[in-house]
Amino acid sequence: MLKTFEQDVIVGLTSAEKFLPSKYFYNDEGSRIFKEIMEMPSYYLSNCEYEILALQAAGIHDKLGFDEPFNIIELGAGDGTKTFKLLQYLLTQKVSFDYIPIDISQEAMNMLSETLHLKLPELSIKPAIGDYFEVLDQLKHTNKQQSLLLFLGSNIGNYPNKEAIELMQLLNKCMKKGDKLLMGIDLQKNPKVIYDAYSDSGGITKRFNLNLLKRINRELGANFDIDQFDFYCYYNPRNGELFSYLVSLAEQEVFLPNTNTKLFFRKDEIIWTEQSKKYNFKEIELLAEQSGFSVVNCFIDSKRYFTDSLLSK
Ligand code: AVJ
Repeated sequence: MLKTFEQDVIVGLTSAEKFLPSKYFYNDEGSRIFKEIMEMPSYYLSNCEYEILALQAAGIHDKLGFDEPFNIIELGAGDGTKTFKLLQYLLTQKVSFDYIPIDISQEAMNMLSETLHLKLPELSIKPAIGDYFEVLDQLKHTNKQQSLLLFLGSNIGNYPNKEAIELMQLLNKCMKKGDKLLMGIDLQKNPKVIYDAYSDSGGITKRFNLNLLKRINRELGANFDIDQFDFYCYYNPRNGELFSYLVSLAEQEVFLPNTNTKLFFRKDEIIWTEQSKKYNFKEIELLAEQSGFSVVNCFIDSKRYFTDSLLSK
C-alpha cells in the first residue's frame, strides 16, 4: 500500500503537468476533514442526496421490482448516514433483504455494523472488507439473490470520462441481468452554486487538499512546507468539470528520502488534485449506454441539484 502511494506520488510530482490522485485524500485525517466539508451549508451535495433517499425510498423500492430476499450492496459505505433512511424505510415495510456494505476500512465497517445493530436491530447486515470488484465477483458466484448496488455521493464525478465508463463496465460485469445500480450524480446547475461548494471561505476545502502534502510528509518522510502552498479551483460550466489544484507559492524543493528523489516546484506552479464532474441528463444516458446499462429512473431532489439515478443491467 505504502509502496503504491510512493510510486504514485513520484509519478505525479515529477511529470510535466503535476498531479496527485484524489483517492489519497481519504486517510483518517482526510476522512475527518471530508466530514467537515459535508457539514458545510455550501456543500449542498450531501443534503440533496439525503433528501432523495429519505423522501423517495418508496419510489426507489417500487422501481426495483425484485423478488425477496434481495441484496443491497453499498460500495464505499463509510459511516452509512446516507443509506440509513432507505434501509429504515424498507424495514418498516417488512421488505426482506440483506445489507452488504463494502469498504476497505475494517474500522469503518466495525463502526457501521455497531451503529446499525443498535439503530436497526432487525437489519440483516453482512459487511465485507476489501476490493469492490473481488467482493462483487465472489458474490456473483456464491449468491443467488438479485442485487441493488449503491454507488452514492457523486464519487463517479472523480473519474475522467473514459475511466468512469471503465469503472461502470467493471461493475456491470460483476452484476447479473436485471440487477440494478443506484448512482449518486451531481447535476450541472448555476455555476456559482457549484463554485461555492468547493471554495469555502473557512478554508476547509483548502485544508482537505493540503492534507495530501501532510500525508506525504508523514508517511513518506518528505518535507513539504504546507504554508508555501495554496488552493485553487475552477469550474467550467460548458462541460461541467470542476478541477481542484494546489498552487506553489514559491520556487521550492522537496525531498523524498526513501527514494532519494528531489521534487522541484516553480513559483505559481499548479498540482492537479481532483476532478469533480457535474453531469446533465443526456450525459447520464450516454454513460449508462456505454457501460451496458439502461436508465430506469433519475430520482432528483427538490432543488434539482442532484440525482440518484437507477440503472438496470
Ligand atoms: C467525495 C468525491 C464526491 O468531489 O465533491 C469535496 C470530494 N472534494 N470537496 C466531491 C470533495 C472537495 C467529493 N466526493
